[in-house]
Order: sequence, then structure tokens, then C-alpha cells
Amino acid sequence: MALKTKTIAAHTLGCKVNQLETESLLEVFRTAGYRVVNFDTPADIYLINTCTITHLGDRKSRQMIRRAQRCNPEAMIVVTGCYAQRSPEAVQKIPGVSLIWGNQDRAEIVNWVEQLFAQKSANLQVEDQTEVGLEALIRVKDIRQAQVFEELPLALERDRTRALVKVEDGCSQFCSYCIVPYTRGPVRSRPAERVVEEIIRLVEAGYQEVVLTGIHTSAYGKEWRYGGDTPNLATLIQKILEAVPALPRLRISSIEPTEMPERLLEIMSQSKVICRHLHIPLQSGDDEILRQMRRPYTTAQYAALIQRLRRKISGVAVTTDIMVGFPGETEQHFNRSFNFIYELGFSDLHVFKYSPRQGTLAAALPNQVAAPDKEARSQQLIALAHDLRQRFAASFVGQTLEVLLEEETTIPKESNWLPERDMKTAFWGGYTDNYIRVAVPVVEKARLSGRFVPVLLVDSQADLVLGKII
Ligand code: SAH
Ligand code: F3S
Repeated sequence: MALKTKTIAAHTLGCKVNQLETESLLEVFRTAGYRVVNFDTPADIYLINTCTITHLGDRKSRQMIRRAQRCNPEAMIVVTGCYAQRSPEAVQKIPGVSLIWGNQDRAEIVNWVEQLFAQKSANLQVEDQTEVGLEALIRVKDIRQAQVFEELPLALERDRTRALVKVEDGCSQFCSYCIVPYTRGPVRSRPAERVVEEIIRLVEAGYQEVVLTGIHTSAYGKEWRYGGDTPNLATLIQKILEAVPALPRLRISSIEPTEMPERLLEIMSQSKVICRHLHIPLQSGDDEILRQMRRPYTTAQYAALIQRLRRKISGVAVTTDIMVGFPGETEQHFNRSFNFIYELGFSDLHVFKYSPRQGTLAAALPNQVAAPDKEARSQQLIALAHDLRQRFAASFVGQTLEVLLEEETTIPKESNWLPERDMKTAFWGGYTDNYIRVAVPVVEKARLSGRFVPVLLVDSQADLVLGKII
């Protein structure tokens, strides 16, 4: 009897690394003969890649598991990722879950799924079955023992514009609020040769931009540092630039403020390939709070870094993560933080509301901030982020920048930008190297994703910058 091809649907919660890993896992299943389908169609298997960075990550992860169960109550539900790694017993209590897998050995998931299917059909052949509620199987190892970077297969997308490349996993910094070192384990870097190989394949497949990413990307090579010539993010980037001259754009996803060596600055200022964009998590613009967070720098050091960057790399976009409502954060702390952020003038902010994570140092601190205060502070910063984005974009109006077009986009109806706008005009959206999102009108109907075009920035309104292809 011919076996029907089994289908698998996946959903990712949380960060970009999770998204990338989900794609890789689906590739493993594809190679094993499974067909990938949409999450809302009844699938044979549901893979939920979870997040636990805040309590919202936990909640959304649980909601997705329940949604999968509703989509197909007969399905096999596999739960992996940081929430599974951290709280396997909580996941086990959710009805319908078959397999709970941590953040290690993930290429093996498919083998276990096959075994579970085999078991299921064997059970079905036994007569007089009484319904036994089978407990989900937990396969979660102690991530603190993880020592090497785990290779997962590369998945190519249909729209080949920008690709993430994972160069590192884990974090050993233990900021006092953060659960990540517990769910991802210590820093494990990916050998430079593997990184280079993957980028060559991506460029051959037509990708125009590569984003180097990780859990603590700028710790790259840390575990190998023993005297002599030590690999780090700067040497990795240099290798990539030398080995893949055909790569048009290279972006770095995130750099800790204490991990920006002069050498990296030099390479960045001399290379046309590396994007003038750095995401440098600040967390708070108040020194007392930074200390409590166990962040290893002061606001003065941070500001000096940004000034050094701006001197070396003109037009650089600096974006950051800010957390509000850390235990003990008073209005005074917050106001100092707000003013610091305002004066440094970032290009964008990612705002987080502090969420106590059991097992971290900060969760046990007194003076937890009330939810409405966190919300109000977060709203203030979100509004500031909006102004900062606009201020940054406006400073480039009148200049011509290269834009990598990604997808057709819409612009607000009420926009009065284009006198020549008519039914035939389509808008395409893309980013400049310094991360300004630009929309350009295109009259001909064409697929432009992955094309570089020189664009004159004409106007900046709210969150959209309009340009004209020159
Ligand atoms: N080091 C990483 C960031 C990890 S997590 C990097 O390279 O970018 C991403 C962001 O989540 C952090 O920068 C922080 O702002 C936020 N975050 C971490 N723990 C949190 C918590 N307990 N509550 C709220 N936000 C948190
Ligand atoms: Fe978290 Fe700090 Fe590492 S924010 S991921 S512990 S650098």
C-alpha cells in the first residue's frame, strides 16, 4: 500500500534566530519526504517553536499549541524552542502535545516523529483499545553542557532577497533580568568555514544581502579565545569579505556595547559591503539601573562609543533595545533614561516591558514596578521611537541612496505625495544600507524583489519615506 505523504505545519514565536531555525527544521522534514503546509490547514504534524523571553512569549507559545490542537485534534504536536527547554512540564500539561524537544539535537526530531507514528499505528492494531491519555514525551537535555554549535540545513526561500546566517548560539553574559543564558546555554560559535560556505551558497542562489545573526552575536569566538590569533566577529567578517567578493551587502544583527573593537570599526568604515547599521542594546539610559541589570558599561561609555561610530562611519544608523520597568526603576530613573535616549538620537528603538523570569537575579529584587507604570513608560518610548525614525529619515531627504527592493507595498491612501499617481503605479518597498525603509513608485509591472536601485529620497512622512528611482 502506498503511503500518503505526511504534512507538517510550523509556527515560530520570538526572535529572528527562532524563525531561521524553524525554516531549517522544516527543511529536515522536507528532505525526509514530508510536505510543508499552512498552519491553518489540518496537518499531520504541527511544529511550534516557542519563546520565553517574557511571560508574553510563554503565553503566546501556549496559545499556538492550543490552536494547533484545534486545527487538527488528531495531529502530532511537537513543541521545541526556549519555552520547551525551560518549562517542559508546563508544556506537557497542555492537551494534545506528543513531543517536547529542547534546544539541542534538533535534526533528530524527525526520527522521533517517525517512531511515534510507527508506535501509534501499532497500537491501533491492538484490539480492545481503551483510551489511554498518552503523556507527551520530553526530550530536553541540560543545555549548560552544550559545547559545540549545532549545524542545521540551509533553507532557501522563494523570494531571495535577504538571508539570515546564524554564526553563534548561546550567551554567557547573564544580565540580571535575562533567561536566555539558561535556555540557550553557553556561547558556541560556528566555524568560519561553515559560515563562508553557507554564504557562498546563498549568493549563488541569488540572495543580495546576508545578516549575520546569533543569540549573542558579538561574543563570536569567545570560547576559543586562548592566546595567539583569536577569532572574533571582526576576523569572521574579514574572512567573509575576502572569500565571497560577490556578496553585495552584509549586515550585522546586534552588537553588545562592550564588544565593538577598533578593528571592526576600521573594517566597517572601509567596506562598501557592510551596512552602515548597528543594533547596540542599551537597555537603560540610567547608570544605577544599568548596574542593577549587570550591564558592563556606563551611559558615558555608551555615548562615547556612539560618538566614535558616528565620526568614523558617516550616516550610520544606530538602533537599540530599551527595557522599561526594571525593578526599582523610579520616574526619576526613567526620565534620565528617556532624556539620554532622546539626546543620543537613535534611528529606532525596540521597547520591552520588563517581565520577571523565575530563576534570574532580578526576579527576586524588591520594588517590582506596577504594570500600568510599565505600560505608560513603554508608550512614551514608542512615541519617541516614532519621532526618532522620522528625524533620522528626514536628515537624508535630498540624498540618493542604494535601496534593495524587497516586495510590493502599499502607501497610505491619504498620501498626497504623487501627482502622477494612478491605477498603474505600484509601490515597491526596500531598505537602504542604513536601514531607512523607502517606498518607490514603479509604473511598469515587474518583479523587482532583489534588485538594487539608486533612489533619491524625496519626502519622509510618519513611518514611510518616499523615493524616486534615479
Ligand atoms: N543579547 C541579545 C539580546 C537578547 S534578548 C542580542 O544580541 O541582541 C532581546 C531583548 O529582549 C533584550 O535586549 C532585552 O531588551 C529584552 N529582554 C530580555 N529579557 C527580558 C525580560 N526579562 N523582560 C523584558 N525584556 C527582556
Ligand atoms: Fe540576555 Fe544579556 Fe545575553 S540581554 S542574551 S544575557 S547579553
